[in-house]
Amino acid sequence: MLFSSVFWLVSFPSLTLFSYVALHTQAANHVHQPLETRSSSINQTYRTAYHFQPAKNWMNGPMRYKGLYHFFYQYNPKAAVWGNITWGHSVSPDLVNWTSLDLALVPSQPYDNGGCWSGSATILPDGKPVLMYTGNDLNNHETQNLAMPKNASDPFLKEWVKSPKNPLLAPNNVNRINATSFRDPTTAWLGRDGWWRVILGSQNRRRGVALLYRSKDFVHWIQAKHPLHSAKDTGMWECPDFFPVLVKSPFGVDTSFNGPNVRHVLKISLFDAQHDSYLIGNYDTIKDIFIPDKGFEDNNYSVLRYDYGKFYASKTFYDDAKKRRILWGWVKESSNKDDDIKKGWSGIQGIPRSIWLHESGKQLVQWPVVEIEKLRTNPVNWPSKVLKGGELLQVSGVTAAQADVEISFKVKEFGKVEEFEPSWKLDPQSLCNQKGAGAAVRGGLGPFGLLVLASKGLEEHTAVFFRVFKIPINNRYVVLMCSDQSRSSLNHNNDLTTYGAFLDMDPLHEQLSLRTLIDHSVVESFGGEGRACITARVYPTLAVKEDAHLYAFNNGTANVIITRLSAWSINKAQIN
Ligand SMILES: *[C@@H]1O[C@H](CO)[C@@H](O)[C@H](O)[C@H]1NC(C)=O
Ligand SMILES: *[C@@H]1O[C@H](CO)[C@@H](O)[C@H](O)[C@H]1NC(C)=O
Ligand SMILES: *[C@@H]1O[C@H](CO)[C@@H](O)[C@H](O)[C@H]1NC(C)=O
Ligand SMILES: *[C@@H]1O[C@H](CO)[C@@H](O)[C@H](O)[C@H]1NC(C)=O
Ligand SMILES: *[C@@H]1O[C@H](CO)[C@@H](O)[C@H](O)[C@H]1NC(C)=O
Ligand SMILES: *[C@@H]1O[C@H](CO)[C@@H](O)[C@H](O)[C@H]1NC(C)=O
Ligand SMILES: *[C@@H]1O[C@H](CO)[C@@H](O)[C@H](O)[C@H]1NC(C)=O
Repeated sequence: MLFSSVFWLVSFPSLTLFSYVALHTQAANHVHQPLETRSSSINQTYRTAYHFQPAKNWMNGPMRYKGLYHFFYQYNPKAAVWGNITWGHSVSPDLVNWTSLDLALVPSQPYDNGGCWSGSATILPDGKPVLMYTGNDLNNHETQNLAMPKNASDPFLKEWVKSPKNPLLAPNNVNRINATSFRDPTTAWLGRDGWWRVILGSQNRRRGVALLYRSKDFVHWIQAKHPLHSAKDTGMWECPDFFPVLVKSPFGVDTSFNGPNVRHVLKISLFDAQHDSYLIGNYDTIKDIFIPDKGFEDNNYSVLRYDYGKFYASKTFYDDAKKRRILWGWVKESSNKDDDIKKGWSGIQGIPRSIWLHESGKQLVQWPVVEIEKLRTNPVNWPSKVLKGGELLQVSGVTAAQADVEISFKVKEFGKVEEFEPSWKLDPQSLCNQKGAGAAVRGGLGPFGLLVLASKGLEEHTAVFFRVFKIPINNRYVVLMCSDQSRSSLNHNNDLTTYGAFLDMDPLHEQLSLRTLIDHSVVESFGGEGRACITARVYPTLAVKEDAHLYAFNNGTANVIITRLSAWSINKAQIN
């Protein structure tokens, strides 16, 4: 079946992942020249300075490692649009600075002539990594395939060899899987019975499915009778991810780990909605199925998301060097295709995030990896101060187009809180849009927060802010976090959608904190210490480079107290 190119453009983000090798040599010494030189004559105003992206062209995808982090990503070597998909490959000693290597996988076989799509790396018990990936043939049929390093002693894992046994997993008359909906294998995990398990994304009519396969030797795979999980009316599931998290601990564990204080997370990338949703639950290892906790599936998979803005096809990996699980996601452009072609590239990665189970057990928490703080310079710190209703305070002394800001608010004047009207939908994104059209309408308790990438006259700005409401019947508060792009650019050819999330917290007893990473065309915000994340892409025309400004603002009628404001300029990282 053929699809239009536009369809494909949004369709297979996917990604991939890692490998790992002990190593003490400096990455840069052994590296090949980047395949592409930096795109030259085009306008690079929106190029990021410390977010991962290839020198040019289309990209998406994630990574991992163990002494050296390896990142494999979906990459079009020919153009800034989706197509000709290969596996790009970069390595880093610290998740911040990256060096580009030769392509790891390129279409070369009948089963992958149409593209080497997403997959994952798994480290086998002998310490050697393998890659499992989706091959797409020229008839758009998807199969799963294996590749091994040519020289496993090479810490850079520069060359990969496809298995002569490929394709290993294929739709057939027996399993009756739709060959256009069969992709994105996860990192495999090993059961106590000595069998490997892997899941991949699929759909059966409109039922989203995480197909489960088992293998003794990683080469011969048998489809399990039951999928790991499925859900009606959710459409195609892409890039599934399945991993254990510890109860009441920020530490991560290996993907095969299981035991008493462990919960499991199933993440799926919902193709129709284009966002990453997750479920927390139990992994029943006898039946080999995942059972989400009560309540998780009640709201059409829209309630718990890694990120409420632009963030898709993410993956996690376990970093045993620092005993943490790291999440990496693909952040698409919000610009149109012509602009992408003009700038010569499309798609970046968010900042890698540590991810763990919140102590409530009800949601995950994410925080930028600590390594990124090494890029901080020229700190600006404010003493505690009142931010009056209607007030706007400039944060001077930072490079506002390339910055990291942390701000905390204490709310006191609860008398001015607005009531949460029962007629309002429990949909935070539409609430951020409708309830006062974002930051521009004055409220009671809020909107207050940051104006980032703001032009001098405020013609352009992106507002990241909170609003607090009260539910009169039970005297509880609702905290809404919004990222309002509606006035981010005078160029209206971009997607200017406003994003929103609820923050599960109690403003009576907790401060409302916000951290925002700003990098020219990306605004990545972490509310409530990482309980809600929103990533936005913006393309200001005035608020660029030195002409970008940063403010704290309060457009509520109630005063709030800024208990902390710390801001840093961020140095440029070495990226490919
Ligand atoms: C894919 O590669 C071919 C051959 O180089 C090229 O003609 C075509 O334009 C490319 N398509 C895309 C979408 O990049
Ligand atoms: C494999 O890699 C190691 C480490 O880089 C190197 O010393 C060795 O020569 C390589 N072997 C081959 C056959 O290339
Ligand atoms: C297979 O899935 C595609 C969408 O990915 C759909 O258009 C097609 O009708 C499906 N084919 C069958 C036989 O269900
Ligand atoms: C769930 O949401 C999708 C859009 O994201 C929609 O197409 C589908 O009909 C919804 N399903 C139910 C059961 O509400
Ligand atoms: C990355 O490179 C920059 C610039 O060379 C350097 O300052 C920094 O220490 C390196 N590592 C990290 C983790 O930032
Ligand atoms: C605050 O609200 C006023 C009145 O609606 C509006 O004119 C102004 O632009 C808002 N301020 C911000 C920073 O959005
Ligand atoms: C690059 O884009 C910015 C913002 O749109 C614009 O102000 C600037 O003039 C452009 N520079 C070039 C060299 O085209």
